[in-house]
Amino acid sequence: MSEPNDSVLLAGDVPRAVPVSISVQPHLRDVGETKNSLSIAAASMPTAGPLIDRYGRVHEDLRISVTDRCNLRCVYCMSEEGMTFLPRSELLSFDEIVKIARVAHTLGVTAIRLTGGEPLVRKGLASLIAQLSEIGFDDLALTTNGMQLATLAPKLADAGLKRVNVSCDSLKADRFESIRRRGDLATVLGAMDAAEAAGLNPVKVNVVLLRGNNEDEILDFAAFARQTGRVVRFIEFMPLDAQGQWDRTQLVPGHEIFERINEAWPLEAVGDLDGPAPAERFRFVDGHGEIGLISSVTQPFCGTCNRLRLTADGSIRNCLFSDDEYSVRDILRANVGDREIENLLRRAVWAKFPGHAINEPSFLRPARSMSMIGG
Ligand code: 5AD
Ligand code: SF4
Repeated sequence: MSEPNDSVLLAGDVPRAVPVSISVQPHLRDVGETKNSLSIAAASMPTAGPLIDRYGRVHEDLRISVTDRCNLRCVYCMSEEGMTFLPRSELLSFDEIVKIARVAHTLGVTAIRLTGGEPLVRKGLASLIAQLSEIGFDDLALTTNGMQLATLAPKLADAGLKRVNVSCDSLKADRFESIRRRGDLATVLGAMDAAEAAGLNPVKVNVVLLRGNNEDEILDFAAFARQTGRVVRFIEFMPLDAQGQWDRTQLVPGHEIFERINEAWPLEAVGDLDGPAPAERFRFVDGHGEIGLISSVTQPFCGTCNRLRLTADGSIRNCLFSDDEYSVRDILRANVGDREIENLLRRAVWAKFPGHAINEPSFLRPARSMSMIGG
């Protein structure tokens, strides 16, 4: 680990998103910082160069939620009934998304991930992908629940999508349905095959493990990773469920998952080839595949976070767990130029806190849940 680094890079310096060791403290506010984070640090914020925050983290990864709607109702995300969704008029249009993405690209964003809700329920997504692809990002990926992926995969790949992450929390059909409340396992497994056939590789599989529910499938998923070559990523359950029922006793810590798998099939760490990524990557020592652990709660990776989110209704969020939002939609609809969009992106990044505070007694759940923010 490098030394703590809270130095500010000046305009013109173009640092890579190197890991920065930051002691994670509860949404630590600088001395003198007011509740309105927009006014906090504007004084010393760079006006050129990459999207850098006050702790030296360079933001190169933009997650764009294209809808808050979904055709499933996973227990760790949505409630079964009574979800309310944004009216269409509040969603960003594809043109608006592309405009923001273009500006982000000029500021050094190299990777885009489309999320939701479920991104594939937004009609015409391939046309958005084609426009984003033309901008020339190094990476253009999609996180999906897989329900509509099998039919769409070739079209999405043709439009320029590079890879997909498919959520799948159980390899047992009945349990899959009880966790996701709708949908079915066979369709999602078929979607993974179709994605691979369309060249959307490597397919990654997101698994949220819940204590006393699907935790007995750790080794089944490890075996699945070994048999299929798909990278299975275990995500710790985070306090972002719409029902507000999260508590830490329900999550299965990453270290426990590591120990269970390592005992059966020894694992070794994989160096981080793609720059900062939340998943700790491990490969099987015998060469048969790879898994990832996303231990957001028990081992926060805020110190290397290089992500920025755009919600479906056009707000920039600098952290899943911070309620501060910066409405780019409002300024876009006031017909401002690129410079104002750039300025808003810079301010949003500059205001980012050093880390989330899930493990602090003072932690308050974010007001919006996962499907409203974008995973
Ligand atoms: N905790 C952890 N992961 C979640 N996801 C959705 N809600 C939660 C939560 N509360 C996951 C989905 C998907 C990704 C976008 O986020 O399973 O894989
Ligand atoms: Fe839908 Fe994804 Fe939320 Fe499940 S986790 S309800 S698939 S948005």
